[in-house]
Amino acid sequence: MFRLDGKTALITGGSSGIGRAIAELFAEVGARVAIVSRRLSAGQETVAHLTLMGGQAIHIQADVTSEADVRRSLDATLDRYGRLDIVVNNAGVNRRVALEATTDDDWGETFDVNARGAFLYAKHVMPRFQAQRQGCIVNIAGLLAVKGGAGASPAFAASKGALLSLTKSLAARYGRDGVRVNCISPGFVPTESNRRLIDDAPDPAARRREFEAGYPLGRLGRPEDIAYAALYLASGEAGWVTGINLVVDGGLLAK
Ligand SMILES: NC(=O)c1ccc[n+]([C@@H]2O[C@H](COP(=O)([O-])OP(=O)(O)OC[C@H]3O[C@@H](n4cnc5c(N)ncnc54)[C@H](OP(=O)(O)O)[C@@H]3O)[C@@H](O)[C@H]2O)c1
Repeated sequence: MFRLDGKTALITGGSSGIGRAIAELFAEVGARVAIVSRRLSAGQETVAHLTLMGGQAIHIQADVTSEADVRRSLDATLDRYGRLDIVVNNAGVNRRVALEATTDDDWGETFDVNARGAFLYAKHVMPRFQAQRQGCIVNIAGLLAVKGGAGASPAFAASKGALLSLTKSLAARYGRDGVRVNCISPGFVPTESNRRLIDDAPDPAARRREFEAGYPLGRLGRPEDIAYAALYLASGEAGWVTGINLVVDGGLLAK
């Protein structure tokens, strides 16, 4: 159960945080993994770690906002492994700017990475998935795709809402071709990009407790919480699941 033996997974942003946890877990359950990110050193370090664990992994240095890079990363994965079964659109940015301070550039970059990157991967992988009559896309959105947040960046929230809508429309269109498309919406998971929300507080321990108190399950997320959800959606056990948004948030949305 929940094995990915013989499968190949491409994971964008697989060199840190949630993406790295997904890459580790997928490799652990038998998948061959292709990690896409811009920084070479972090990518190579992740591959070295996965290889040491006994996994099979490559890093492809690419930017998800470049259509040429997206195509090249898909080609490189196919050249290396000869097949592709799963794409996880995990790369994301959050500039954390309030409405008044949001520039066109902030809005554009946020949508470019968070929504357009996933569109580009879907567009270029779909013909292959259709031809092989199987394939699976997992998009990493965020709780803000479905829940308002007074302190949230509007560009980030809107881009994740767009990713959720993209997920549903692709699921409806390509289900008949054997392709499943799903979404995960994490709550707050401290990672490289957002740990400073806690660390930069005058009293980081108090800030952490404050955040934790908001969650019915009494703790913040861990990258592996999201990785387990991604594994479920990518696995054969989720064979009748498409178009969903799996909220993994310690119960926050239920409040
Ligand atoms: N952590 C949370 O609390 C949380 C909550 C809700 C949703 N999410 C979503 O979960 C996903 C992962 O978040 P995280 O916290 O793990 O982020 P992270 O630690 O900042 O990692 C982001 C990853 O994406 C890569 N990346 C960023 N821009 C890219 C680009 N243009 N092209 C290729 N790769 C790019 C980064 O590598 P390079 O910089 O080397 O390219 C890095 O590997 C994101 O989509 C995020 O919005 C996270």
